[in-house]
Amino acid sequence: MPPTDAQRKPWGGRFSEATDPRVEAFSASIGFDRALARYDLRVSVAHAQMLGASGLVSEDETARIVAGLREIGGEIESGAFPFDPALEDIHMNIEARLREKIGDDAGHLHTGRSRNDQVATDLALYLRDAAHAARTGLLELRRVLFQRAGEHLDTLLPGYTHLQRAQPVRLAHHWLAFEQMFMRDGERFRDLTKRLAHSPLGAGALAGTTLPIERESPARELGFAAPTANSMDAVASRDTALEFMSAAAICMIHLSRLAEELVLWSSSEFGFIELADAYATGSSLMPQKKNPDVPELVRAKSGRVVGNLVTLLTVMKALPLSYNRDLQEDKEPLFDSAATLGACLEVMAGALATLRVNAEQMARAADDPLLLATDLAEALVRRALPFREAHEVVGRVVAHCLESGRDLRELRQSELQAFHPAFDKDASQLLSLEHTLDARAQPGGPARARVEEALTAVRAALAREAEALAKAPTAEPL
Ligand code: ARG
Repeated sequence: MPPTDAQRKPWGGRFSEATDPRVEAFSASIGFDRALARYDLRVSVAHAQMLGASGLVSEDETARIVAGLREIGGEIESGAFPFDPALEDIHMNIEARLREKIGDDAGHLHTGRSRNDQVATDLALYLRDAAHAARTGLLELRRVLFQRAGEHLDTLLPGYTHLQRAQPVRLAHHWLAFEQMFMRDGERFRDLTKRLAHSPLGAGALAGTTLPIERESPARELGFAAPTANSMDAVASRDTALEFMSAAAICMIHLSRLAEELVLWSSSEFGFIELADAYATGSSLMPQKKNPDVPELVRAKSGRVVGNLVTLLTVMKALPLSYNRDLQEDKEPLFDSAATLGACLEVMAGALATLRVNAEQMARAADDPLLLATDLAEALVRRALPFREAHEVVGRVVAHCLESGRDLRELRQSELQAFHPAFDKDASQLLSLEHTLDARAQPGGPARARVEEALTAVRAALAREAEALAKAPTAEPL
């Protein structure tokens, strides 16, 4: 028997007119909140079991409700579930389907709850999985960076500031810098899970219920530590979604910077890398071209993830307590950020794993003698000159080399002494690429020994993260 309007619409009794179809289409969220189906079913099962245990619903009714929900779970996973856009959202779609399966007993499921606490609980479960997925994607990308860094311990290139050649570094050191950013991104997603430890379920529309429901056991059943401490906060807040989106935005900015370097480095001007054919595209017009579309798209997609964060921040700003329908607008930006981040992590890992490094070209760029100018100033500091003065002296030496076309490393002691009497050796004895790197042996520096230590530390950190992720399972289908 098809549901009456009063059954389809949970507010049916109060209304005498049907909803305008334009309003129905305008306010429907089923087009996107179907992504919550798996979580909504879990929440409903936990709630139904609590209703049964507390005696609000009979054991038989509870069993029929739970069995019906499980059947619906099968339909959702197999793709057979008949989503009906007229039923507004995922919660009503599932409840209507339950009614088709078990009849009027379905009406007991919504005892002592509201879609407000329901959707907040669904979202918390969704975010838990989304944070796990983001960490998994980050771990994979960090593994690739670790692997490629290990291959390029002795590949030298200029390190840049202001995109001007600054000082020589190892390619391993350069890529491990990104690994550190992605490690912190993973920590941000992990930290978020601490703030997802409280279950909104049972907060009702905003002020709980007069019925003798119980909040602890469904909370624990769903993997929360406890119910939320304030029913109004439970239905009104979306800061955990904001936190996810902000962690995603920060991570996308890191991806975008890495992507930008791949674009630059694969240009003929740099010639530092070549993307694998599988991660590049050709031009439909110019036969010679190999374009870095993948990193370009990653760079661009960072914009939409930042935009998604701004969207939800703007939705939340100035919303009075507690639930407002505005909150339905949390989902599309949130889901888009999660999906975009996941895709970008994946393709960047692939692009990095497969690109070819042109070590000779990097070495040629690193061989720029002016990259050693700081070392020459530091040689004077060792002779007790104040650094500022040494900097000034070497500045004049550099200007002389640029004007006369001389290589800094060729200058004899006598020539250097024309700039300052403290120079006690030929430049060639003071300056070498190997020395400049290995003398930079402070913690975190580019000396070979330090970079080897960094690789060891990263290997251990990757193993710890893999173990932590294996211990925090994601939701199984119902
Ligand atoms: N689709 C709604 C949302 O995402 C579910 C909650 C509806 N609650 C309400 N009072 N209309 O927010």
